[in-house]
Order: sequence, then structure tokens, then C-alpha cells
Amino acid sequence: MTIGAGIEEAGAKESFTLAAGLSTEPVPVDSYISPDFFELERKRVFGRAWLFVGRVDQLPEENSYFVKEIDICKASVLVTRNEAGKVQAFHNVCSHRGNLVVNDDCGTKKRFRCEYHNWTYQNDGALIGVPDQKNFFNLDKKKCGLTPIATGVWEGWIFVNMQREPEISLEEFLGPYGKAYAGVPFGEDHETLVIEARFNANWKLIMDAFAESYHVPAIHPGTLAPGFANPVHNKYARPLSGNTFGLHAAWSAYGNPEYAPPPDSEVERIACKIDTGGLLGSDVNDEVLRLRAHPAINPTKESCWSADVTSIFPNFNIDYSTGGYWTHEFWPLSRDATHWILTIRIPKASSVRHRLQLEHYAARWAEIVLEDVTNCERIQKGLESGAKDVMILQDGEFMIRHMQETLRKWVNAETVADAMK
Ligand code: FES
Ligand SMILES: [Fe+2]
Repeated sequence: MTIGAGIEEAGAKESFTLAAGLSTEPVPVDSYISPDFFELERKRVFGRAWLFVGRVDQLPEENSYFVKEIDICKASVLVTRNEAGKVQAFHNVCSHRGNLVVNDDCGTKKRFRCEYHNWTYQNDGALIGVPDQKNFFNLDKKKCGLTPIATGVWEGWIFVNMQREPEISLEEFLGPYGKAYAGVPFGEDHETLVIEARFNANWKLIMDAFAESYHVPAIHPGTLAPGFANPVHNKYARPLSGNTFGLHAAWSAYGNPEYAPPPDSEVERIACKIDTGGLLGSDVNDEVLRLRAHPAINPTKESCWSADVTSIFPNFNIDYSTGGYWTHEFWPLSRDATHWILTIRIPKASSVRHRLQLEHYAARWAEIVLEDVTNCERIQKGLESGAKDVMILQDGEFMIRHMQETLRKWVNAETVADAMK
């Protein structure tokens, strides 16, 4: 469901929380600190949900591969593109005595050789070479390939499911989200910037930091706030719209149309041009026009829009703006440790001015996320103290509430079918 007019001054505001059928009560905080809850997340959420592992452009040609470590599932996942072009995933584990087979991050190889005793596998997982095979007992190579992992691709995004036989398909899992965001134009000709961090806080705390803009004026006064709030029209950086899509959710961020770079920000003053939506703007081109026209993007089609934040359960965000798009992966390492990966994809610059704007945008990102990450360890400490049993969420924080309710359903459900109800 889409509800527009999130900013107070835009007129009658409807509640995102009520429209999504969510409770308005305080929300328990045990999911951030309880060891038992964490073990249930490991088993019942990450062990059963479809998990993002990469994008198809990481497998540019036949026999390309990359390895993705999924610590929460204790899995090393080898993702390959076989000679027929099919994307597949396998446990990166040798059938002989369990050594990891591939020990680099990515590349192109027709064959993978385990370094322990030289067993060799094809890119499609088949075992093709066993030194001194005659000295084994009835070894059937056909039965000893790499163990496959269920794999699905949606709009170029690769997902895996760690269940041997997934209870639901990727399509069912994505549900209305998959339909709503199908066809959003992703240019493949982007430059990629990765910012990652490991820190001591529960994985959902950093996820929560990107689920709402209520914190923007307080935590980001010198970086984000001037562009994402307006002293008269949207003082508290309220979202423009909010949606839930089954397990998944999205909100649209306001962009201050009156934003002007401060006098001491000289590069930004030369580069800044707000003509395609907020301060993350790009030059107008076909891709930008198609992005803005897509019905799921800025669904209420507000002119003061800057970006859409979309959250795919349980730990993956895809965010869209006219200045490119970015993804977040929020990987739990333990109950109170997280590996967070931000991948920013910036379109190739179409002018010198645009290039400068993008460079400034990328540099600004690093400052902003540092402000968010540093705060997470403080929240973890606060919650661990046991001083508070609940957190109190306002309407702009509906996505945190939605995540908490969805997570609790998955943690409590015996089957995925029950969790999906
Ligand atoms: S463990 Fe891989 S060849 Fe022995
Ligand atoms: Fe933030």
C-alpha cells in the first residue's frame, strides 16, 4: 500500500504504520541482545530465506566465478557462470575431505583444483579429476561433484537459499516487491565504490539506521540534513511515502529543493545542480527519465524527491536515486558483531560538472556512513544494559516496526509457509 504526503505541510497526513496494518505499541528490544533470539535468526531466518550474494555483472563471461562468505550460515558459497551462461552456486567444499576449494575472491576459471590433494572440479561443479583414483574404493566421480545450493536471479540480482530444498521459490519470496520493482532501469555501465565495516553491534542496528530519516537532523546536521530536510517545509526530514510489500518494504526520501552548498564547500558549489531530484541529482538522460517514470520509484511522484530506500528481507537494501543506486548488505557475524557492505554504483559522468558532482557525492557518502556506524555501538551498549525492554517508534520509523514483526514471524514459525502468512 502506498501513502503519500508524508511531510506535515503537504496536507492531511495518513499513517504509514496504520496503512501497513502494523501495531502502534512499543516494540521489544530482545531481538538485538538475546543469544537465543540470535540462534533462531541463524536457523529460521538466514537458514530459510533467500539471501542476496551478488549481481550478474560480477560474472561477466562464461567460467567467471566469485566466492561469497556467509558467516551466519557458516557457509562459503562459490557462485559461477557455466559455459551455457547459467548462474549456479555451490558449497565451496571439496568432496574428498572437506577442504575449501577456491581460496581467492573472484576470477575466470574453467576448472577449480583443491589444493589439498588436487581433486579437480569443472565450473559447473562436476568432479573431473582424482589423482590415483584406482587406490580408492568404488569411487563414482559422478556422485562426488560440488554440493549445489539453490540459486535464483531476479533483475540481475543473485540470491541463494541454504535449505537443501527451499520451501518457497525466489519469486514467491519476493512476492509483490518483485513485481513492483521489476523493470527499474539499472545501467550496467556504472562505476562501483565499496565501503565496508565490521563493528560491535547487532546487524539490525545499522539496518535500522537506513530504515528511517527521523535521525537525519540530529546525527547528520552538517552532511545530510541540509539536503534532506527543510527548515520551513520539512523540518524533521519526514519521508514522502512508505510502502510494505509482504516481507519487504520501502520509503521515499525528501530532497530539499532549496538546498544550496555552503560557501566553504567549493567543489560542491561548482558542481551542484538540482534538476533531477534532490542533491543526489544526475544530468538528465534517458536512464534518469526512465527511472523517474517507473511507477514504483517515488510512487507519489513528488517533485521534492531525492531517493528511494527499499528493503528486501532479511538483510539487503537496494536504494535508487537519479545519481545512481546503492545497496547495503547487513551480515550478522554474531549477536553483537556485524559486517556491513555498502556498494555505490555511480553512472558514468556525462559532463565535467557531472563528474565533479559524482566525486563530491561519493566523498560525502563516507562522512555520512561514519556518522551512522559510530552510533550503532553506542546503541548496542545502551540496549545491553537492560535499562529498556522496549523501544518507542514513531510513524516515520514504520520500516523498523515492519522488520521486527516480520522477523518475529519467521523466528516463531515452524515452516516457511507459516512465516509467510
Ligand atoms: S580435501 Fe580436497 S583434494 Fe583432498
Ligand atoms: Fe544516517
